[in-house]
Amino acid sequence: RTLLSPPFLYINVKDYCYDDPQCDPYSWGDSFPSCHPLLDLHHSPINLDLHMSRNSSLGPLRLEGFDSVQSGLWTLRNDGHSVLLQVGAGMAVSGGGLPDVYHTIQLHFHWGGPASNGSEHTVDGRRYPMEMHVVSMKSIHPNVSVALDDPTGLSVLGFFIDVVYADNLHFGQISQKLSSVAYKGQSTKIKPFPLMSLLPRNNMSQYYRYHGSLTTPPCSQAVLWTLFEVPIYISWSQMAQFTSQIFSTEEDAEQVTPLHNNYRHIHPTFSRVTWASREARLVRGWAQRPLASAGTLMMLHVLVLTGHLSAGL
Ligand SMILES: *[C@@H]1O[C@H](CO)[C@@H](O)[C@H](O)[C@H]1NC(C)=O
Ligand SMILES: *[C@@H]1O[C@H](CO)[C@@H](O)[C@H](O)[C@H]1NC(C)=O
Ligand SMILES: *[C@@H]1O[C@H](CO)[C@@H](O)[C@H](O)[C@H]1NC(C)=O
Ligand SMILES: *[C@@H]1O[C@H](CO)[C@@H](O)[C@H](O)[C@H]1NC(C)=O
Ligand SMILES: [Zn+2]
Repeated sequence: RTLLSPPFLYINVKDYCYDDPQCDPYSWGDSFPSCHPLLDLHHSPINLDLHMSRNSSLGPLRLEGFDSVQSGLWTLRNDGHSVLLQVGAGMAVSGGGLPDVYHTIQLHFHWGGPASNGSEHTVDGRRYPMEMHVVSMKSIHPNVSVALDDPTGLSVLGFFIDVVYADNLHFGQISQKLSSVAYKGQSTKIKPFPLMSLLPRNNMSQYYRYHGSLTTPPCSQAVLWTLFEVPIYISWSQMAQFTSQIFSTEEDAEQVTPLHNNYRHIHPTFSRVTWASREARLVRGWAQRPLASAGTLMMLHVLVLTGHLSAGL
């Protein structure tokens, strides 16, 4: 089974799951000792409380290649635990207090179920509907297995995903392809698009930083987390593509099981510090949820127009 994207590495890990006491996150430690949350270890995810300290040296990140269209094709894949988009070479993350340049290798999602939210990190105890992780590896490392032995070997950019009334046209480039990867092991090719089009581009310097782990086996404590304050907004139906169309089982399985609630439980921070970036606002986003994000205004106009029409009829 592959944990992170080829060609960097295939890590063979035994099976793990989210929905069965035999193999769910609380029992991962039985098969993967490094997933045991012992005292003073740096596990993820955590709850972010908004009383954290500010570190004014945490300025904007440098996101190389995120604004351009990469060559080749990307691969969208259902690995039974998530949906992963494996991107080619050409994108890198640095700055913002990161100690090195990190090459981006893949992004993937965590979600809930028909009636539950599924972000991994929580903010003041509240869970967002979904979370997206953009995974990058420190450029000095030849492969992910070496990077996992370095406490700052990986950088993960985490984006909360919240739900609004209108579709996010850019996000459609992923959500419309999900039906091709409904079952575990299935993959499909995607034409590259500027990754930045998915991200909250006006608010990229508002983030939180802490040192943690992978949230899937082998749970290596090798991740510098950057969690963005402002979420990505998608529609309810785009989110439902994840909760209703993705299965953790293979197509020919006797019993198909939807993949739901693929998040690890919250871990204590112990002695760790979580920093807020220079421009983070440290206010809860819940109250200021917009009706629609910029990319969706067109759709909103259509809705408003339809409303006017039916009101007139
Ligand atoms: C602020 O962040 C930088 C970069 O991560 C780090 O080197 C520095 O120690 C932090 N400042 C404090 C006061 O810890
Ligand atoms: C789940 O997400 C919705 C939409 O953002 C939010 O209104 C709700 O409070 C969240 N529920 C929990 C339990 O965090
Ligand atoms: C990763 O790189 C190290 C150092 O070059 C090498 O010893 C190891 O075999 C590589 N692992 C894989 C799985 O390619
Ligand atoms: C996002 O950034 C814009 C431009 O700096 C700012 O006006 C807006 O308040 C920010 N949004 C949030 C929710 O912080
Ligand atoms: Zn993840």
